[in-house]
Amino acid sequence: MSNILVSVAWPYANGPRHIGHVAGFGVPSDVYARYQRMKGNDVLMVSGTDEHGTPILVEADAEGVGPQEIADRYNRIIAEDLCNLGLSYDLFTRTTTGNHEHVVQELFKQCLSNGYIYQGTQKVAISPSTGRTLPDRYIEGTCPICGADGARGDQCDNCGNELDPDELINPVSKINGETPRFEESEHFFLDLPALAEANLKWLESRQGWRSNVLNFSLGLFKEVKPRAITRDIDWGIPVPVDGWVDNPNKKLYVWFDAVIGYLSASIEWARRQGDPEAWRRWWNDPEALGYYFMGKDNITFHSQIWPSELLAYDGEGSKGGRPGEYGRLNLPEQVVASEFMTMEGRKFSSSRGIVIYVRDILERYQVDAVRYYISVAGPESSDSDFTWSEFVRHNNEELAASWGNLVNRVANLLNKDFGRIPRIEEDWLTAEDRALLEESRAAFDTVGSLIEHQRQKAALGEAMGLVGDINKYISAQEPWKIKEDQDRLATVLHTAAQAVCDANTLLAPFLPHSAQKVYETMGGEGTFSPLPHLEEVEDLDKPGFSYPIITGTYRLGVNVHPWRSEPIKDGTPIAKPTPIFAKIPKEAVQEELDRFQARLDERKAREKARFEEEQAKLKAREGAGRKDDGQADGGHEGGRQG
Ligand code: MF3
Ligand code: ZN
Repeated sequence: MSNILVSVAWPYANGPRHIGHVAGFGVPSDVYARYQRMKGNDVLMVSGTDEHGTPILVEADAEGVGPQEIADRYNRIIAEDLCNLGLSYDLFTRTTTGNHEHVVQELFKQCLSNGYIYQGTQKVAISPSTGRTLPDRYIEGTCPICGADGARGDQCDNCGNELDPDELINPVSKINGETPRFEESEHFFLDLPALAEANLKWLESRQGWRSNVLNFSLGLFKEVKPRAITRDIDWGIPVPVDGWVDNPNKKLYVWFDAVIGYLSASIEWARRQGDPEAWRRWWNDPEALGYYFMGKDNITFHSQIWPSELLAYDGEGSKGGRPGEYGRLNLPEQVVASEFMTMEGRKFSSSRGIVIYVRDILERYQVDAVRYYISVAGPESSDSDFTWSEFVRHNNEELAASWGNLVNRVANLLNKDFGRIPRIEEDWLTAEDRALLEESRAAFDTVGSLIEHQRQKAALGEAMGLVGDINKYISAQEPWKIKEDQDRLATVLHTAAQAVCDANTLLAPFLPHSAQKVYETMGGEGTFSPLPHLEEVEDLDKPGFSYPIITGTYRLGVNVHPWRSEPIKDGTPIAKPTPIFAKIPKEAVQEELDRFQARLDERKAREKARFEEEQAKLKAREGAGRKDDGQADGGHEGGRQG
């Protein structure tokens, strides 16, 4: 038995999550965690909302409210949505807890005392009209390397190079089009060069990674520069250094704190269990394995920044050092990054309305239909496109027709002919019966090994292949035509029932909600496939602060079914079944496409209005400050992105 940490990327609490997000980090991490629990491993699955930094501030400004209000609102919405998807977190928390702040500061201080964090200066962009710092990715200009327009202050999407905002030619603010000014500012830096050798050595020893993830990660080490881990911003975790900690305008960089969430959430979980040291089994035990799930835009932070933070804390870079109170912390075993999902051929963009929110799709369709689509057509190792017609097709042809009807047909015949699972004798089995039972037993190894190797699409394909073969078996045996030979009828239905129950176990990591229903349809009692729930809790350290967490009890043999073929029990009563999956009417596709178009139009109009308003404000300020407003206002409209 192993201790397996399932670390799931922390969504920003700046808006509801869409299908593209949960296809990347959500459903795959849950399938993996559920499978590992069924295998008997000790899983700890943690995440939460990422609530600091400019993403939250920008939304707060746009809505004209404070950042904590934005974080509170979207933390709640996101927690509800992820819970409704059945994602079986042991703890889904947030980054504005007292516990998280404490753990982050402890890591910072130890890295500082080990010599991997140092103070220096950095040029930062300031908005002349507001006096506030402009985050790198809100500055846009011409790339100094390839000459492309629309390069951002952190990166040029055209040539892929990382940039500093002051390198851009003709930089402008994406918020209102003005030209930023640059000033030197004091910051703390993470000494990535001093950690690069150890970081790369770890990376080179990795096995079983997706090759594109590993290659991208290795590429990060061609040129390693120190990275600023503080920002000129008033929203974030205070920098735990004298003279800084009370400075309202200097905070830790959001990515420095967010990745530490994996550790702080594990500690919070342990504290909430009443066993405050329990997290150590996943972090200090060198045999424990950490699997990190995310979309590909997060790879840098999980293959370099987080491992380097851990190495700095552990004192394992070129400057030596020693771990702090948390002891030596494990580096990730694997960074499991998915590719991107598009929506009807276009890049997801909440601001432009190219989205389908988790909440909206769950309101109209069955949760396992959504999970199934993500598993079967998600961006596992190449980009994929969400389309409504494919969503409906997969649901209707595969879930409803192939799997749902099979369960229904078998349960119906059992109910009608015997009212229970009939008793049979071993030597009544024909070669065909034995072949099917052999196939469904063997599928546990095949499907399991594919899930272990992060090939969930292929794993689901294998499980559905078994479903197809059970259907073929029934069509060939035609139990409805067997009239006299009760023993043969019993044998066929018993065999089919066994195979259906096995297939249901194989599908349970993917389809936990319907797996429970299938289990009950086949006469099972109790919980087969547990679901998470929301709980309102008090912050452990900040009095008066409460928030929702996702948590649950997932215990092998208690409410988690083991990953193996379990013989069905003779005499189990089988009631008349009700359908498990609903067919989606064909017209739904056009309805959804119309809804999509309407949202696009509405957002376009809204975004245009917002930009014009910002420009008008800017003009008014400039008019008040100067007689002649000579500033050009064109030239950046085309490059604006959400
Ligand atoms: N909030 C980030 C995003 O949405 C992901 C953070 S992952 C974490 O891209 F590990 F850093 F939390
Ligand atoms: Zn470029």
